[in-house]
Amino acid sequence: MKTNLLFNIRLLCMFVLITVSCTTKIKNDIPHLQKQGTATQLIVDGKPFLILGGEVSNTASSSLEYMNTVWLNLNKMNFNTVLIAVAWGWVEPEEGRFDFSLVDGLLEGARSHNLKVVFLWFGSWKNGISSFVPTWVKANQEKFPRVQVKSGKSIEVLSTLSETNREYDTRAYTAFMRHIREVDSNKNTVLMIQLQNEVGVLGDSRDRSKPANEAFVKAVPRELIDYLSRHKDSLLPEIRKVWETTGFKTEGNWEEVFGTTPATDELFMAWNYAQYMDKMAATGKAEYPLPVFTNSWIVQPEDKGPGDYPSGGAEPLTLEVWKAGAPNIDINAPDIYLPNFDEWVALFNRNGNPLFVPESRGDSGGAANAFYAIGQHAAIGYSPFGIDNTARLLALRPGSEVKAPEEIENLPLPKAYETLKQLSPVILENQGKGTIAAAWLTSEKQAKEIQLGNYKLNVEVWRNRRNPEQAAKIGYGIFIAVGPDEYLISGCDIRVTFTPTTPGPQIAGLASVETGKFENGKWIPGRKLSGDDILLRYDLGAAADVNQSGSGIQIRGLIHNIQRVKLYRYE
Ligand code: DGJ
Repeated sequence: MKTNLLFNIRLLCMFVLITVSCTTKIKNDIPHLQKQGTATQLIVDGKPFLILGGEVSNTASSSLEYMNTVWLNLNKMNFNTVLIAVAWGWVEPEEGRFDFSLVDGLLEGARSHNLKVVFLWFGSWKNGISSFVPTWVKANQEKFPRVQVKSGKSIEVLSTLSETNREYDTRAYTAFMRHIREVDSNKNTVLMIQLQNEVGVLGDSRDRSKPANEAFVKAVPRELIDYLSRHKDSLLPEIRKVWETTGFKTEGNWEEVFGTTPATDELFMAWNYAQYMDKMAATGKAEYPLPVFTNSWIVQPEDKGPGDYPSGGAEPLTLEVWKAGAPNIDINAPDIYLPNFDEWVALFNRNGNPLFVPESRGDSGGAANAFYAIGQHAAIGYSPFGIDNTARLLALRPGSEVKAPEEIENLPLPKAYETLKQLSPVILENQGKGTIAAAWLTSEKQAKEIQLGNYKLNVEVWRNRRNPEQAAKIGYGIFIAVGPDEYLISGCDIRVTFTPTTPGPQIAGLASVETGKFENGKWIPGRKLSGDDILLRYDLGAAADVNQSGSGIQIRGLIHNIQRVKLYRYE
């Protein structure tokens, strides 16, 4: 009897242990963000993961039939993740009746093509406008109040100042997150959630409905003032400049604290959007704590003020307000279609805001963007917009059924993704440690100097040795210091020379250069490069005068686009 009791107690202990460790395992396994040095990485199934993504057009995911024409080509384009919309109106077509069969179908399609998913919750707002809310919300303006603009008219934008709006959107979003937990927590297909899409008021600098006007003349919330005061010395310059105009006032209403310019309206809207969405994110995370990000329609050069672009979204001016007002949102991401991509990623990747680019270009410029964001700013990933159109149009071109697959794979972005896929383990290993950098070059920015390891890397766009006028229009590369005198270099249309920056002989020669590929993170060497492959100039005397050997790395197009170089030094 006593033995039996002991046996049962042991059994019970084992059961408790197993249950506890299983629960912990599921929890740890949920895709989550984790710091590595200065980088923030996305951890999936216990390992860092690089999103080589693409976003389908807005309504593509409303039809599984349509998506069936797309999945296969997404595979061919080397995407590992697809960004797809789920609209509030699609899953709660009647008030209180939820139907997630579309979500299940999308997950099934993605899984059967070995793709991960980032869902975009098109709830209260999509590009500022409330066009994806259910019809029963649209049709009941009394219950679901909207933004009013200067003229006193309302626009088709739900007001952030309405608790009802927030509660109903939150109820649907939470049901959606619960459903994802139920169907995906043991599969980890879904990696992150984009909450809403490009939020902000369009057509005016702020909401002028009665509740908004009342809030605007009330004291600026204590939490925001406290946050700004606590971080005063490290505040981003854009908001600091505005706050400085009132002598950094810490009491008063919005105009008293920030002044009487449209920037104050924008800060006010940012606070209200941040608070609305923070509460949604927190409630969603209580169901299933996936990382959550916002995406911003960034200020365009032709915009005269907030309202020309959505007023209140995360922008360089409002990033700090978003940080203060939405601690449950992990990333404020930019959508970058503007040509100065390098400047925009730098503006968003500040004060601890990790970089993810959910929308951008998918052409050769997009390939450069992906390399740069990932190599220079430790981006969690990159994603061009409208990829179903590229994939589908190519496949549907008359008579192209046989040719299309190669054409798709050979497009610049799929080629770049194929290379990034090979490099992923070594990139992820180095992100945040000061051993990786990238260059993004154009006809206007033809050269960049990068200090990495014991050398300065002089990177230029590729140009013809005999006719230097003949230069590439775009050049890009990732550089990883893999040893004291050793680099891994990958990219397109670049030339690289090296200048020692530590004491010792001042000329760097190429001890060996090999091209090759990575298979499961292991370097497989290919050709040994020398002669024409590495020769940049014959005027060796002039080269020596500037401490150069005359040789360097060249990557022309996508040929030999991963190279491993060992340097030695001489005088
Ligand atoms: C940005 C939006 O976020 C996308 O949903 C889409 O509308 C694109 N603009 C269109 O260029």
